[in-house]
Formats: sequence, C-alpha cells, structure tokens
Amino acid sequence: MGDRFRLYCSSLQMLLAVMILLITATTSFVRSHDNLELVDDDEGWEMVGRKGNQFVLNGQPFYVNGFNTYWLMVLAADQSTRPKVSQLFQQASSVGLTVCRTWAFNDGQWRALQKSPGVYDEDVFKALDFVVSEAKKYKIRLILSLSNNWDAYGGKAQYVKWGKEAGLNLTSDDDFFSHPALRTYYKAHVKTVLNRVNTITNVTYKEDPTIFAWELMNEPRCTSDPSGDKLQSWIQEMAVYVKSMDPKHLVEIGLEGFYGPSTPDKAQFNPNTYATQVGTDFIRNHMVLGVDFASVHMYADSWISQTITDAHVQFTKSWMESHIDDAEKYLGMPVVFTEFGVSVKDQGYNSTFRDNLYSTVYKTLLNSTKRGGSGAGSLMWQLFPEGTDYMDDGYAIVLSKSPSASNMISLHSTRIAIFNSLCSWKCKWGCKKKTALDTILYHDEL
Ligand SMILES: *[C@@H]1O[C@H](CO)[C@@H](O)[C@H](O)[C@H]1NC(C)=O
Ligand SMILES: *[C@@H]1O[C@H](CO)[C@@H](O)[C@H](O)[C@H]1NC(C)=O
Ligand SMILES: *[C@@H]1O[C@H](CO)[C@@H](O)[C@H](O)[C@H]1NC(C)=O
Ligand SMILES: *[C@@H]1O[C@H](CO)[C@@H](O)[C@H](O)[C@H]1NC(C)=O
Repeated sequence: MGDRFRLYCSSLQMLLAVMILLITATTSFVRSHDNLELVDDDEGWEMVGRKGNQFVLNGQPFYVNGFNTYWLMVLAADQSTRPKVSQLFQQASSVGLTVCRTWAFNDGQWRALQKSPGVYDEDVFKALDFVVSEAKKYKIRLILSLSNNWDAYGGKAQYVKWGKEAGLNLTSDDDFFSHPALRTYYKAHVKTVLNRVNTITNVTYKEDPTIFAWELMNEPRCTSDPSGDKLQSWIQEMAVYVKSMDPKHLVEIGLEGFYGPSTPDKAQFNPNTYATQVGTDFIRNHMVLGVDFASVHMYADSWISQTITDAHVQFTKSWMESHIDDAEKYLGMPVVFTEFGVSVKDQGYNSTFRDNLYSTVYKTLLNSTKRGGSGAGSLMWQLFPEGTDYMDDGYAIVLSKSPSASNMISLHSTRIAIFNSLCSWKCKWGCKKKTALDTILYHDEL
C-alpha cells in the first residue's frame, strides 16, 4: 500500500492523478445529488479502517496527529470538573488534533469504573459516555485503553488483589497475564465496555465510529518471563477475543516497543539492556492475529538519562525509523507513536528542547508519510486544558501557555490534513485540483 502517494510524488504522474480526481469528483457530484436527503450531521463519521500499512477513512488515508489525556473519565465523573473535558476537546480541535488516547478503566480505586470484578459504578460509566459523546461533538476519535500495567487506576496489581481476595493462590502481579481466572476477569471487563450502550448517544461502543481503536493494556510488561512467552500467549488470547466481539474496530496492544528475544539483532536499538528483558518483543507481539497496528512509546528522558542532551533527539529519531522500518518490512501494518514527550522537571530542560523534540517526531513521520510508509501518526503525552495543573506529571502542554508548541502542533495537523485530503474519492466538484498541485510543492519543502 501507499502506492497512491507515490503516484503524487512524480510530476508527470500528477497530470494523470488530477484527471482521476476530476473523474471521481464528477461521479460523486452526481451521486451526492441522488442522495441529497440522506445527508446529515453524521455524514462522513465512519469507522476508521486499515488497508495494509495505512489507516483509511471514507476512502482517504487517515494519518493521525493526536494526543493523550488519560484522566477524562474521572474528571467527567464530577460535575465541577466535567467542563474540562469539553474545553480540552475544543482546544485540541482548534489545533487540528483528531485522535485522543484515554483510559476506559479505573479498577478498584477512587472514582472506580469497575469497583470489583464485574461490578460497575453507573455514574462513572455515564462519565465515560460523556467523554465519548463530547469527543464526537469536536470530531475527535478515541483510542480507549482497557487496563494498565502500572498501579495507577488499579491495573494488573488490582486484578491480582481481587484474585487473592477470591482465594486464588497468586504470587506475582504478572499472574494477571497467566492465571485463567484473572484472564476471565479481564475479558469480562472488555465485554462490558464493548457492549456498553452510551446513555447520551444510544450508540453501543462497539458500533461507535468515535472510537478509533481498542488498546489491550497501557504499556504491558511481564518481567517475570523475559522469554516473552507468557505475555505473547495473553496477547494472542485477548486480541482475538476483542476482535471476535467487535470486528469493526481496530485493535492495538499498547506496547512501548522494546525489542525482545526474537530479534537479537535489533536489541541495539533499545534504549538500554534492561528493555530487552521485560518480557515484551515488539515484532513477535505484533504478528499476533487480531492486532491491526503497532504502538510505540518514546521517553528518552526516562529510559536513557534524566539529564537532557542531544542524544535524546538522536535516540528518538532512530527509534522511530527503526520501528517504521519493522512495520513496513515485517508487520505490513501502520505504526503509531502513541506516547512521546519530555518533562519540564528534567535536568537541563527548556522549551526550545521540547520544541526540537516535537519537531523531530513530526519531521520523521512526514518523511515516512511522503513515501507512503508505515509511520501513521503520533500522540503527544500529554495535552491539558487550563486549570488542571494538579494532574500534571511534568509532560503536560497547555496550548494557551505554550504558543510555540501550539503553532508547531497546528502546522503539523495542517500538513497531515492535506495529505489525507489528497486522495479523496468523495471529493466534491472542483475542490482539490488546485490544492493538490500546491501541496506537491509544499511537500518537497518539508
Ligand atoms: C501457591 O503457588 C506457588 C507457586 O505456584 C506454589 O509454590 C505454592 O505451593 C502454592 N501454595 C498453595 C497453598 O497451593
Ligand atoms: C435514546 O433513546 C431514548 C429511549 O429510547 C430516547 O428517549 C432518546 O431520545 C434517545 N436519544 C438519542 C440521542 O437518540
Ligand atoms: C536548551 O536546552 C538544550 C539542551 O539541554 C541546550 O543545548 C540549549 O542550549 C538550551 N537553550 C537555551 C536557550 O537555554
Ligand atoms: C527519511 O527516511 C529515510 C528512511 O528511513 C532515511 O534514510 C532518511 O535519512 C530520512 N530523511 C530525513 C530527512 O530524516
């Protein structure tokens, strides 16, 4: 795939492309007249799908500029903080961001969604309904993560605690991956979320195009089994489970992207030697049936050193290129850099460095996009509205307080939107001819 983009990269073939655009535009003009009365607000609000190494939406490619804000459900659960959710989506949409990754779990903690196995707080579920319906209002799609490797919001440790309370003989948090009873708990949670009927929109989650993808777990690691077999088996079972219940949505694992035992020659790209031993295996894990795209996180500041140096930027670029290359050569799927950022708490931090890091991520992606490669998008960690500083881990960007970052994000969104629109099949009469020509010149400057 990606052939469609290569078509646009040669000026000779451009003429042909414009002719095709004209023909398709004419056809859809006629068609849109036929269907005039069917056009409504939901027009174009379709499921995002995948063809080879690209995401597709309405017959166009769908490259992603997006963000993370993990706490949306919890802030929506309280009437006093609920408006923050709407503010966030409004601000994100003002700089062209189209995908948000957030938690669809909170196990056994304060404001828990799942209070104990199979027992849900309806008010918190309604808060998640609100998050989904607000996202749609601002034309933002969601990646919903279904559990956590870490203790925040419960995570695998909470599942193990529940298991122990039920009398199971559990010795490690990694029993989450292997114990049949805990696998059953997890699957029951997946089933509940996917079959939830949104109380605001009446749309069942598994039918809702507002959801871009399901994520099995945030940053799964299984250090008790460096061979990777234990986690591999869990991914195999869960990816197929989600996909069989909901064949329409995309599925990703939630991995950080470390190379494991199946690819010793790739270990050199890992940020440190420990990363090779955490029971994950980027290429092997992503070859599992039911997984549609790869995820990668990048935190040079937590993986290499907390003192900022140029090496962080170098690492980020080679980490990205290596994974884009894998996704093309071995996986035949898109790869999304689902978390990246830098903390203001790091030694030597300044905003110039952050801008430089963001710009590196965006440029590396555009380099892939231009040639129809697997680099399908990125999600900054993390975007906040004003007045939520108490939730900030040092990585948050508030757009109104960071004009240079804001401009950079916005420019990247514009470039992505142009790429996405270039190949429109449904393009209305005359809309893209000129833009297409201008854009080719614009591309080559990037
Ligand atoms: C609990 O499991 C551990 C490890 O699998 C085993 O060594 C131990 O004997 C078990 N304890 C009981 C009471 O079954
Ligand atoms: C959802 O369904 C309820 C009950 O059938 C109905 O009253 C309400 O108008 C519906 N809401 C939407 C947004 O369709
Ligand atoms: C910002 O930080 C980087 C990396 O620590 C450093 O190289 C650069 O000189 C700093 N720039 C300013 C303006 O302080
Ligand atoms: C673009 O990507 C290719 C393939 O990964 C790489 O060789 C090249 O250096 C990249 N160019 C830039 C400007 O990053």
